[in-house]
Amino acid sequence: MWQSTNNEDMAQAAAALKDGEVVAFPTETVYGLGADGLNETACRKIYSAKERPADNPLILHIAERAMLDALVRTVPDGAEILMKAFWPGPLTLLFPKSDAIPAVVTAGLDTVAVRMPAHPVALSLIRDVHRPLAAPSANKSGRPSPTAAWHVAEDFGDEIAGIVDGGDCAVGVESTILDLTRKPPVLLRPGGISREAIEALIGPVLLAGALSENAPPPAPGMKYRHYAPKSPVWLAPVEEDENFLHRLIAQAEQSSKSLGLLLSDDAIGFLHAQNDIPPNVRLWNLGPRTRPDVAAARLFDGLRRLDDMGVSEMFIGRWPEEELGLALMNRITKLSRPWKG
Ligand code: TXA
Ligand code: MG
Repeated sequence: MWQSTNNEDMAQAAAALKDGEVVAFPTETVYGLGADGLNETACRKIYSAKERPADNPLILHIAERAMLDALVRTVPDGAEILMKAFWPGPLTLLFPKSDAIPAVVTAGLDTVAVRMPAHPVALSLIRDVHRPLAAPSANKSGRPSPTAAWHVAEDFGDEIAGIVDGGDCAVGVESTILDLTRKPPVLLRPGGISREAIEALIGPVLLAGALSENAPPPAPGMKYRHYAPKSPVWLAPVEEDENFLHRLIAQAEQSSKSLGLLLSDDAIGFLHAQNDIPPNVRLWNLGPRTRPDVAAARLFDGLRRLDDMGVSEMFIGRWPEEELGLALMNRITKLSRPWKG
């Protein structure tokens, strides 16, 4: 692991990438598991390291608008406006792919997903390597996305050439993925740029979830289980039902198992006011109810930390689905099961 981003470490990381190796690097959303996006063999290594199904395509990361031209056949309506507004930043757009891109990157699809990350380390690596970097989130398939270098190390150890440690990721959930090749545009994955911000510039977009149940998933990744820690997570009324919380604590007091609660500041405040928290209850603070962006940035770290504390189950509540709350609830829904107790 390269602990620093000094010139020597960055040069080593770039050299490994040029050699067709897999290197994890920080972005503003989550850490990416990077490889030369035009090198088929290198991209295959991403799939095997990540244990990723072969039908789930990768995102290409570029450092300048000019790098896009060789990768795409056309630029769909609305894309220029959005690139101008949100690149570099957590917005991924789909484009009709050019022949320069190996089929392994797009899992055989005719479109390619591209974004320009807003992280100085990511941008400088892409420039040093002089290639678009293919990078999925740097977690083993199905695990919580990594928002710190130790998360990547936890999943991969020595299996990859290295990890560039750029500290904690500011956004903490992945990029928004938007398909402008369809009319109206389809939001395939809510993420770091809100639906509201996009619609303010290009008008209404459809949510992929609103597409017909029987249609093939427009983003292949949508059909897989995602983001899950080792212990089960229950989606329960822990934010709004004070009695429910109270009962959970009372049950934990009688139990030898430990329990992880991922709660807003507000719910934690209530708990402390009403209960002595038994030592087998581990709390993870997601920040104020009014700040889904803060909760989004803390979510994945909390899941891993509670796992590492050995909790046998976790509880999390619903958050308002506005602004970053849409991405937050999308991740929460995928990693949890509804509480039926
Ligand atoms: O923020 C992010 O986007 C992070 C950082 C590292 O940039 N990357 C990331 O990649 O989240 P990944 O591979 O974990 O998720 C990419 C998603 C997958 O669900 C995949 O199915 C979808 O993007 N995707 C990629 N190419 C696509 C395409 N051509 N059409 C539809 N969906 C695509
Ligand atoms: Mg991922």
